Amino acid sequence: MAEIAVRTASVLHNKHIAPNVFRLEVEGSFRAKPGQFYMLRSWRHDPLLFRPMSVFDRTEESLSFLCATRGRGTDLLSRLSAGDGLTLLGPLGNGWERIDERIALIGGGTGIAPLYYTAKYFAAKDRSAAIDIYLGFRGRPFLQEEFAQVAQRVYRSSESGEGGEEGLITEIFNPSGYDTCYACGPPAMLAALSKVCQGAGIPLFVSLEERIACGIGACLGCAVRTRKGMKRVCKDGPVFRAEEVFFDG
Ligand SMILES: Cc1cc2nc3c(=O)[nH]c(=O)nc-3n(C[C@H](O)[C@H](O)[C@H](O)COP(=O)(O)OP(=O)(O)OC[C@H]3O[C@@H](n4cnc5c(N)ncnc54)[C@H](O)[C@@H]3O)c2cc1C
Ligand code: FES
Repeated sequence: MAEIAVRTASVLHNKHIAPNVFRLEVEGSFRAKPGQFYMLRSWRHDPLLFRPMSVFDRTEESLSFLCATRGRGTDLLSRLSAGDGLTLLGPLGNGWERIDERIALIGGGTGIAPLYYTAKYFAAKDRSAAIDIYLGFRGRPFLQEEFAQVAQRVYRSSESGEGGEEGLITEIFNPSGYDTCYACGPPAMLAALSKVCQGAGIPLFVSLEERIACGIGACLGCAVRTRKGMKRVCKDGPVFRAEEVFFDG
């Protein structure tokens, strides 16, 4: 398990890549397993807490995040420019464990964020891995070239029908032929995937998003009820086996 540290890093780029979506990259060598996240902060007092973001990509020289602007914290992050400082706490959470060779990664909305590094990491670890990625967007799809570089096949859908198959990614995805599936996205998407994977007898791992306060397992603010009792999303997760999770709350 990588040691958790607080560091301040310099912003290399902050690119707006779609309406209300930006890619924030900081300089430095950071550790991360796929599916892990960092708590970010670029402000002094307001908001009070750091904001959790999954690792979108990691190289020896930089770490990047794919973020959607939602409220004050992400708005402040979206305004950072090259040379600005960003404080990072991490790496946090359990991350994904690679189990098998034929893998499907499914993401919806900003749930696509952890999939890029996951595919890159698994492919680098094992060249025989066959990784397909399924991306669900609300509007026009983005980062298509990047995802195509790390996956064997990339499927996409768009709720608005722009630049992709119209509809939900759950309408395209079929688990047959895969050994393991990993998903991150809205609860309704995860619930639908859980049902279809369970029906097909294919293991599914899901990454949950809850409001995170401390990020290190100390406050229980992110605890969710599971079939194995109460679990902290920040420390016991964010990745869980789908059959452990109650998707209806
Ligand atoms: C482990 C983890 C990884 C994440 N990775 C990413 C990522 O890679 N990219 C990304 O864009 N976002 C990610 N998020 C969500 C992101 O952390 C929140 O959108 C962000 O903290 C919102 O902060 P804010 O100050 O902008 O909004 P706030 O002002 O705090 O909230 C704005 C609105 O967003 C809702 N909201 C805030 N946080 C969450 C949450 N965690 N789940 C559901 N609703 C929320 C609030 O209820 C409110 O309606 C992740 C969350 C978790 C827990
Ligand atoms: S946010 Fe404090 S225990 Fe998870």
